[in-house]
Formats: sequence, structure tokens, C-alpha cells
Amino acid sequence: MSTDPETVAKKSDEPGSCRGKPSDSVRSERKPNTEMALNGSETNQILSTARPGTCRKKAATIIFTLRNEVSGLVKALKLFQEKHVSLVHIESRKSKRRDSDFEVFVDCDSEHEQLKELTELLRKHTEIVEITPSDAALRDDGVDCMPWFPKKISDLDLCANKVLMYGSELDADHPGFKDKVYRKRREYFADLALNFKHCNPIPRVDYTAEEVRTWGMVFRELNKLYPSHACKEYLKNLPLLTKHCQYSEDNIPQLDDVSHFLMECSGFTIRPVAGYLSPRDFLAGLAFRVFHCTQYVRHNSEPLYTPEPDTCHELLGHVPLLAEPSFAQFSQELGLASLGASDEDVQKLATLYFFTVEFGLCKQDGKLRAYGAGLLSSASELKHALSGRANILPFDPVLTCHQECMITTFQKAYFVAESFEEAKNKMREFARTLKRPFTVHYNPYTQSVDILKDTSNINSMVKDIRHELDIVEEALSRLCKHQRN
Ligand SMILES: [Fe+2]
Repeated sequence: MSTDPETVAKKSDEPGSCRGKPSDSVRSERKPNTEMALNGSETNQILSTARPGTCRKKAATIIFTLRNEVSGLVKALKLFQEKHVSLVHIESRKSKRRDSDFEVFVDCDSEHEQLKELTELLRKHTEIVEITPSDAALRDDGVDCMPWFPKKISDLDLCANKVLMYGSELDADHPGFKDKVYRKRREYFADLALNFKHCNPIPRVDYTAEEVRTWGMVFRELNKLYPSHACKEYLKNLPLLTKHCQYSEDNIPQLDDVSHFLMECSGFTIRPVAGYLSPRDFLAGLAFRVFHCTQYVRHNSEPLYTPEPDTCHELLGHVPLLAEPSFAQFSQELGLASLGASDEDVQKLATLYFFTVEFGLCKQDGKLRAYGAGLLSSASELKHALSGRANILPFDPVLTCHQECMITTFQKAYFVAESFEEAKNKMREFARTLKRPFTVHYNPYTQSVDILKDTSNINSMVKDIRHELDIVEEALSRLCKHQRN
């Protein structure tokens, strides 16, 4: 979709390249700070979710329904005009609740008061399905200046569809660009993802024989390398996926099965996604232990290369590590650090994601091993990274966050962590240096984030910690009694 030669992903010169591109991902092939100003006609379709540091203006997302009547949308949009509320993004879709209705999804920017008046007016003429920030937040929540971010897991419905590149709109140099059947198929996958809502089962896909063949080629090629190149956590979890999610060379696993499996292993779940999300939206998913996954398969003409993340990249590159609790924790902390962070800091976190979750290496038993999904789903780059010829540096977030992310070639450097635990501790230290006037805490009971900005929030958290410590104390006491007897 982008016509900027710097941002269009190109085929690698390396044969057999299958680069892990996170749209799923936060990666920078669409610029690490993809909350970028897009130009020309794209401006009407894709806009940043970031509302950098402006306190006077309020950014909001409003979803309202319209009866299927020609003038309904015109009437509604006139209200925005009357109240001088600027539209920055608009989409419509068929309502899932009532067949005859349409839902209109609008991102807008306006002065605080005008936004309030607009929502009151809209309520008279349409049915408002959702407003973010909520009405309460519109009144004043004391954290006005920060960019909007999801506070509860279902809020991801509001940002997971804001893809920077739709799956059906392929760049001219995409292997499937001239293949009408493939493009139709990509539209099907885009629709599945765009209609997905939190708590829905992920639709099961009847993959074609051609898609299974393509997956099989990738699967076989990579499985030759895993024993000598993948980290031990990956090697431990891959057989479990074979057992519980039917990973095999002649079957493409279903995301719904994988999501249930991950939930049991590490608390992660999967959301299908139509294309590239902004780094801010993608990282926000991680904060709730939600991983956005593509469901389509790369074009069959080049099975060992894809210019974008496809389901082979997600299932073979990401999923085995997401099943690992320590890695899951590391990923979530990256996500939590991004909530409400400035654009500059989100960019740094996106780069850190890129050089860890996508291209990270670790040391195990004195040897280098890969844990990054971009490596574990790309035979050529996986071999290169561990060939002894690549530039290997210690993972240090302060330095790593400035490393250039390479798009069309192998990375200029790879970063090695001693363990996920070490990477997590370094990330925590780094997160403390980010400019954010509050701390967030994830509440697993409500799958929401608490903003710790006053003593009452903090007191409530201290009570929870005391309760947890009581459990530890009781367990230790029972253990001591048991050992004495
Ligand atoms: Fe990825």
C-alpha cells in the first residue's frame, strides 16, 4: 500500500529468505515508528493511534450503528462538522448484532467540550456502541495528556482492526500481487480478522491443498535446523504443539487450538489480525498477553520467502516461545511498558521487541541459540545468525534500542541475552527510565490494567500482595511441618 520506496518491503537478495515481519509485528519495515504520517490517499484510511502529548485536544474513538439508509451516515457526519470535531479515521462495517445495521468506526480529535457535546448529539441520532475514552474519562481522569491505550482486554477490539496494511491490498512486488485467486483468498482472511471480537472463537480455516503444501515445505526446511539452532525452550515446546495442536508437515494448525493451548501454558491468547498493526497497538496486545497473529499463508510461488508475516511465521516462529512462561512474562512487560508511553519511547520499545522477540539470540550450554521468531521462521537468516560470521552483541536495552532494523537484508547485528530472566530484568530497568508519569499494573483477575497514580490504587495493590505473601507463608509453614514429621 505504501508507495514510499523506503517502506515497501522488498524481496531479499538472499535465497530462501523468509523474513519474520511482525505486524503481528512491531517491526520497522514499515518504520519502527509506524505511527507515521502517511501521505496522499492513504491519509484517509490509515492514521496513527498515537495522540502525542497534546493536552488541549482529546482523541477519541467512537463506534455507532446506522440503519441501512442512504442518508444516515451523512446526517451523523454533519454532527461532527457542526461541533468542529476533526475526523482522522473512518471505517464502516456490517453490524454483527443486527443484519440491517451498519457500524461506523470513527477516530476523531477535538477540544474536550466539543467532544462531549458531540457524543450527546450522536446519541439522539444513532446508537453508540462504544466510546473510547469512556464518557467518564472524557470528563477528566487526571491522565489526560497521555496517548489513549486499552485499559481492559476487550478494548483491544477498538485498536486491533486499525491495520496499517490490509491483507488483501498487496504491494506491486508481492509474490501474489498478480494472482487474482490469491488476492481473493487474502480478502477472505482479512474479513475473518476484521470481524473478530474479544471472546469469539477464532474461525477455523479449511486450508487448501496448495496452502498445506506451502506450509509443509516451510515446516520441513526449518525442522532440519531446529535441533542445532533453536533454544531449548523452543525444542521443549514444539513436540507439545505436535501433540496438542496437530503441528505436522501436512496440517496447518488452527489458531483457535493454539490459543487454547497457550492459555493453559502461559496465559497468552491469540487474536487474528488482517495486516500490519502500528507498534503501539501491537505492543498494547502484549500487555494483556494477547498475541496478534495472521492466519493466511504466503504465496505458493516462493514458499521460503514472504515479504510480510504469515501464519507459518506465527506458528513456527512465535508460538513455541509464547508457550514458555518466562518468555511470556518478558513479552508482557514489553507491552506494559508501552501503554501510555510517548511516541519516542514506543519506538524504542518496538526496536527492542524487534531485536529480542523477532531476532533475539541466547546463550545455552556455552552455545548461541535462537529464540527470535524472525530467525526461527527463516532458514537462511537462522543459518547466517549462528554461522560465526554474524555480528553478535550483548543485549543492552539502552544501546539496542538505537540499533537500525534491517528490512530487506539480514540484520547488521544480533543481540544475545544470557536468559529470558536476564533480558526481563534489563527490560525492567530500562522501562523505569521511560518518561511516563504513572505505573501500570496488570490485574489478571479482570484482565485489565490499573493505573497506579494515587495512594488508593497503590494501597489496593499492597493488599493483594499481602494476601499472596500470606499464601507463601502458609505454604512454607506446611512444608516445615511436613519435613519435621
Ligand atoms: Fe513476528
